[in-house]
Amino acid sequence: MNKSHIPAAQKSVLSQLIDDHRKVSTLLKKFKREKASNQKQQAANEACTAITVHIEIEEGLFYPFLRDRDARVFDDLLDEALVEHGNVKNLIEKIMNMSADNRLYEASVRVLGERVAHHVKEEEELLFPKIISKNVDLRELIEPMEKRRQHVLVGKVTA
Ligand SMILES: [Fe+2]
Ligand SMILES: [Fe+2]
Repeated sequence: MNKSHIPAAQKSVLSQLIDDHRKVSTLLKKFKREKASNQKQQAANEACTAITVHIEIEEGLFYPFLRDRDARVFDDLLDEALVEHGNVKNLIEKIMNMSADNRLYEASVRVLGERVAHHVKEEEELLFPKIISKNVDLRELIEPMEKRRQHVLVGKVTA
């Protein structure tokens, strides 16, 4: 895939989502590296928050926009993505309510990392290339996605 032929709006939206994916994977790696339980918990909490913000943007704007543009092309992939998001959200809720001393804490965060990695791979290797090959115009998504990100982030900081 020659990236120089990707329209600017697709680049802007997709690279924003890919940046989120990388940020989450960096935080989950940090979790594995840390030794002290408070540091581990902090990395896990940051990863969970970053994933939650990302999922809200995808489910609130990105996925509905794609379904609206071409349900026939995107529905199956997005249905699967929603089920995967659901699993990830359940696991996040468990982790956020679990003490870092719980013997299943480490395993839970690792499983979260595996589920997230699988989902990210499907988005980046199946969904995003489809958007590019079908030439879906993402211009109308840029501004709402930026606004939603600010809004959700403020909610997370003041919560
Ligand atoms: Fe997703
Ligand atoms: Fe994603």
